[in-house]
Amino acid sequence: MFKILSKERLAENVVSMLVEAPLIAGKAKPGQFVILRVDEKGERIPLTVVSVDESGKAIRLIFQEVGKTTTKLGRLRPGEYISDLVGPLGRPTEVKSYGHVVVIGGGVGVAEAYPVAKALKSAGNRVTAIIGARSKDLLILEDEMREVCDSLHVCTDDGSKGRKGFVTDVLKELLEGNTPINLVYAIGPAVMMKVVADLTRPYGVHTMVSLNPIMVDGTGMCGACRVTVGGETRFVCVDGPEFDAHMVDFQELMTRQRMYLDKEKMALEKYLREGAADG
Ligand SMILES: Cc1cc2nc3c(=O)[nH]c(=O)nc-3n(C[C@H](O)[C@H](O)[C@H](O)COP(=O)(O)OP(=O)(O)OC[C@H]3O[C@@H](n4cnc5c(N)ncnc54)[C@H](O)[C@@H]3O)c2cc1C
Ligand code: FES
Repeated sequence: MFKILSKERLAENVVSMLVEAPLIAGKAKPGQFVILRVDEKGERIPLTVVSVDESGKAIRLIFQEVGKTTTKLGRLRPGEYISDLVGPLGRPTEVKSYGHVVVIGGGVGVAEAYPVAKALKSAGNRVTAIIGARSKDLLILEDEMREVCDSLHVCTDDGSKGRKGFVTDVLKELLEGNTPINLVYAIGPAVMMKVVADLTRPYGVHTMVSLNPIMVDGTGMCGACRVTVGGETRFVCVDGPEFDAHMVDFQELMTRQRMYLDKEKMALEKYLREGAADG
């Protein structure tokens, strides 16, 4: 059982939780994630380890309430417990000196981009970040990103904060500009990562993405997180989550993400209708 030490709502439907997990906190590196079950009957979901607190004993998770499990998790209060938490899982980000790195976070992907941007900055890179959300109320970690990056571009789809438009509009301008870019690193909705890959490909700029397929066991055994990279089958939980964006079959990823859409919708509606009665 893993105790929730604190909880804060960062935006509508986005929650930040500090969870006591000393063994995971002691080992987690940027780019890694945990798989958790809210309770014994629950499904297993992956969430990124955003940071480790000063005590070194607790991890911060930031998640968007999109379905039954994340909604249930968002209803837990400080002092309550998460049933299981395994990790850290996945391969850590390759943190080294690249030169000029552009880190892109879309939506709740900003939470996943933050530890990577911070680590790349500490490794001596010049880090330009582009973060975006549908509107200003959904934008998260702007101050934290500003603190760890050399420059920050903020975009919202509706223009309510920063520049009106998509993160990829800013990326396009940077690619067309005079400052060479040695690495682009993007985390967000699959469609955003696909557009990033399509934009950087003609420029030959090395581009990494952190993929977010449905996961079940997190051990490479169940096959739920299967993706095709460079024509080969890879399992995101053990071979990823980060891959060369120019090799990823995004169409397949997006199709597989939508596979259980009807069932997911029904599960959330049932949970909201019956409240916490089913646990
Ligand atoms: C390695 C990894 C790290 C992740 N880190 C985070 C994180 O730090 N914060 C966070 O908010 N989310 C993160 N995700 C996504 C998160 O796991 C899903 O949002 C969650 O599993 C949804 O569960 P649910 O039961 O609430 O929703 P469901 O009922 O399962 O799904 C509801 C809706 O969300 C969509 N969805 C489901 N799974 C995913 C997914 N993996 N990616 C995108 N959309 C999905 C469905 O298509 C559906 O539209 C991560 C995913 C992976 C693979
Ligand atoms: S989640 Fe089962 S193989 Fe990756």
